Amino acid sequence: MDIKDIEEKALYEIGNAGSVEELEAARVKYMGRKSELVKLLRSLKNLPVGERKRVGPKANELKEKLMEAVSEKRQELADFYTPKIDVTKPGERICAGHLHPLTQVYRRVRDIFSSMNFSVVDGPEIETEYYNFEALNIPADHPARDAWDTFWLRRSGLKAQDSKLRGSGRPLLRTHTSPMQVRYMESHNPPFQIIVPGRVFRYEATDASHEYNFYQVEGLAVGKDVNLAQLKYTIEVFLKRLFGQGIEFRFRPSYFPFTEPSIEVDIRLGGSKWLEMMGAGMVHRNVFDAARYSPDDVQGFAFGVGLDRLAMVKYGIPDIRLFYSGDLRFTRQF
Ligand code: FA5
Repeated sequence: MDIKDIEEKALYEIGNAGSVEELEAARVKYMGRKSELVKLLRSLKNLPVGERKRVGPKANELKEKLMEAVSEKRQELADFYTPKIDVTKPGERICAGHLHPLTQVYRRVRDIFSSMNFSVVDGPEIETEYYNFEALNIPADHPARDAWDTFWLRRSGLKAQDSKLRGSGRPLLRTHTSPMQVRYMESHNPPFQIIVPGRVFRYEATDASHEYNFYQVEGLAVGKDVNLAQLKYTIEVFLKRLFGQGIEFRFRPSYFPFTEPSIEVDIRLGGSKWLEMMGAGMVHRNVFDAARYSPDDVQGFAFGVGLDRLAMVKYGIPDIRLFYSGDLRFTRQF
């Protein structure tokens, strides 16, 4: 075999070795003591000078070349079989997501009211002036509108499928969940009791207890002789089940155009500090009129509780803005 033949075969076998063992076999075969190349190198000294000068450098060159090829291949095989994952490294903790504190409190609230036979109803976040105000006995020039500073929407921004919103005053982002009172009564007959959870919006400056985007849970119970004592009892049971028997709360007389009489409920934070939780009262007859119920035949109670405020008390959170900060260090605590 001449040098060219050896080179071709050796490089082929080295290059195709699939394991360290195969590579070693090829190395021994082409570069070991009994290999043709080594034999050739050994016999150089017996060759005539001219021949030696011609063959010698070529044989040595090939030897270098093969050594290099073997060492490259060895590295390649080593890399391939070295695991790229360090199985001895301690694991990293997988951080599963969990429910936002507002969601957790909402689910608790929902379960408590479900157990008292309230069903859960959803309503639109984009409302009309009619359902948000007028149907709730708050006409356009009524000073009570100031209590619900409003994000008004442009009618031209509405899509065709929002035709329900047309022709009933200007569209807006609902400032409370109360618009669902009349919406629900329009399509259902009493007796019933519902809660309406949802997001509401107010064009308001924020502080530790006020957001411009927050959550309410509306309650509405209508029947033949629903009364104020039942409202107070329902609220009492609700608060005690959410916060425990020791919770301190108070009823205060208040005013809402859509309830008569109206009350508000505060929870004691400690010391002399109270936090307002909800507005409530007996459904005003003008609201029954708007729903085409006969005000002489039915009575009802309604309440609207601030979910964020409930969560603040439940978890001892001092600032409502933390809920919307998007800061995981905050949400992970609950
Ligand atoms: C209302 O929104 C009435 N719709 C409640 C109602 C319903 C009365 C049914 C009678 C019958 P008010 O604006 O007070 O009322 O808000 C109700 C509750 O929402 C408050 O007690 C408070 O807990 C919460 N709330 C009000 N404004 C904010 C705000 N900016 N940020 C966070 N929570 C708020």
